Amino acid sequence: MQQITLQLDLAEIQGDLLIGMQKNAELFIFFKISDPPRFKTRLREYVVRRVTSARTALERERRVYERRRQREAKTEAWMALNLGFTRDGLTQLIGSNQPRLDPAFERGADNPETIAALNDLAPAKWTRDFRSDRIDGVFLVTGPDPSFVTFHGNALRQGLGSAVKIVYSEMGAVRPGAERRHEHFGFLDGISQPGIRGIMHRLYLSHEPDQGRPGQDLVWPGEFVFGYPGQDPNDPVKPGPPPDMAASWMKNGSFMVFRRLEQKVPEFRRFVAEQAARLGMDRELLAARMVGRWKSGAPLELAPLRDNSALGGDERRNNDFGFGDDPDQRKCPYAAHIRKVYPRDDTGGLAEAQRHRIIRAGIPFGPEVESGETTTKHSRGLMFVCYQTSIERQFEYIQRHYANNPEFVEGKTRPGGGAVTPGYDPIIGQAPGQGVREMDEPYPNYPAGSRRTTLQLPQQFVTLTAAGYFFMPSITALRTVLTS
Ligand code: HEM
Repeated sequence: MQQITLQLDLAEIQGDLLIGMQKNAELFIFFKISDPPRFKTRLREYVVRRVTSARTALERERRVYERRRQREAKTEAWMALNLGFTRDGLTQLIGSNQPRLDPAFERGADNPETIAALNDLAPAKWTRDFRSDRIDGVFLVTGPDPSFVTFHGNALRQGLGSAVKIVYSEMGAVRPGAERRHEHFGFLDGISQPGIRGIMHRLYLSHEPDQGRPGQDLVWPGEFVFGYPGQDPNDPVKPGPPPDMAASWMKNGSFMVFRRLEQKVPEFRRFVAEQAARLGMDRELLAARMVGRWKSGAPLELAPLRDNSALGGDERRNNDFGFGDDPDQRKCPYAAHIRKVYPRDDTGGLAEAQRHRIIRAGIPFGPEVESGETTTKHSRGLMFVCYQTSIERQFEYIQRHYANNPEFVEGKTRPGGGAVTPGYDPIIGQAPGQGVREMDEPYPNYPAGSRRTTLQLPQQFVTLTAAGYFFMPSITALRTVLTS
C-alpha cells in the first residue's frame, strides 16, 4: 500500500470526536445566542481556552491505560468541554451569507424532510422544553460524576451570562456498579468503533496492518474530520480524496448528530420474555439475537448459542469476526442491530461498508428501573452522539437504508433456495408511521436446521424525543472566523 504520513492536528480537533472525552457524567447544554457580539467576546475570551482538544483527550486516555496496567485504583477529576453549532447558530455568528455545508446539516434534524426520510417521531411529540425555543448550539461538559459536572456547567453559564439563553439541559451518566458501560437494555456498549489511521493508541494492537485492535478495520480520518484523506470508494484500504469543504474554516471540524433516544426498558424485558416463551427458547438468547451480541458483549458470531462473558470483555477477541462466513444467518440474524448498522464483510464489499461508518460517543440518561416499575414511569435511554463528515452518507444512511430497510441485507436466500426478507433492526429500526416491524429468524438454526420463525414487533422500544445536527469547529475557527 502507498505510504502516507498522516499528521493529524490533534491540538486543533475537539476531543470528543476522535478520541472521546473521559466521561462518567456528561451535561448537554443546548443554548440560543441572545446577544451575538457579546457571545463572540465571551467565547473568545472565556470559553476557547477551556475547550478540550483531541491531544489532551489522548494524553488523558494514555494515563488511564497506564493506571489500569499498573492496577492503580486512583482516578483523576478531569473536566472536559466541547461545543458545536446548528445551522441557525452559524447564521448568528457569520451571517446568512455563509456557505452551504452538508445538505442534511442545512436541513436540520427537525425538518419535515428529515423526519419523513428517517421515519422519526414528529418534533411535536419530542420533549417539550427541548423545542421551546431555537437551538443555536450545544456545550458538552464531562467529568467524573454528575455533581462535578453540574458545578462546571454552572460556572460556564455564569461565564456566558446574558449572551446566551439556556433552552434545555440534561445530564447523562454511566450506569452504576456492574452495569457500568452497559446501556439500559443491559448490553455492554462502546465495544466496536472504527480505528482511525494515524492515531492508534490502544493496547492489544492487531498484527494485521489494516486493523487497530483485532477485527477493528482502520478508516482514513477524513471520514470523521475535515481536511484529511477519506476512504477510497472502491478500495477499503487506500485513501480517497479529502471530503469537500464548503469553507476553509471547516478544516479540523466535524458534524455531530445528537438523538435523545428513550428506551422502554420494562416493556422490552416483558416482550422478550413473552416472545422467548412463544418460540420455546432462552430469553437471553432471543435478546442476543436482536442485538447480535450477548449482554456481556460476546458476539453471536463467536458464541452463537451460549454466552461467554470472558470473550465479551476481551478487547483482543470481542470484535474479531465478520459476517461473510455466516451466509445463512445461522449464528447471527441479518436483522440483528450490529449486523444491520455495520455489515462488515457481508455486503457490497468492504470498501462500501467503510463508507458508512460513524464514531459513537453517547452516554445513558435517566434512573435505573425501580422495583415494581412494570411500565416505564421514568424517562431513561441513550443520549446518542455520533461524528462524521457527511451526515447523509454516514448517520442518515445507516438509519435509513440499513436499520429502517427490511430488505437490507439484499440478495439473501434460504439454504434450500427462496428469497429472505431480513426485516427491521429490532433495536433502532423505525417503520413508516411507527408501524409494526418484523425480523426474520429469531430462533437459531445453528448449526443446522430449517425451522422458519419471525418476530413481530408491534411496538418500538426506542423512541426519538429530541434531535439536532451540529458542526463542531476546530479550536482556531472558534478563536477566529466564528468570533471575529
Ligand atoms: C437506544 C438506542 C441504541 C441502543 C440500545 C444501541 C445498542 C448497541 C449495542 C449494545 C451495541 C454493541 C456494542 C458495541 O459494539 O459498541 C451497538 C453497536 C453499534 N450501534 Fe447501537 N444502539 C442504539 C442506537 C444506535 C443508533 C441510533 C445507531 C446509528 C444509526 C447505532 C449504531 C451502532 C453502531 C455503528 C454500532 C457498532 C457496530 C459494529 O461496529 O459492530 N446505534 N449498539
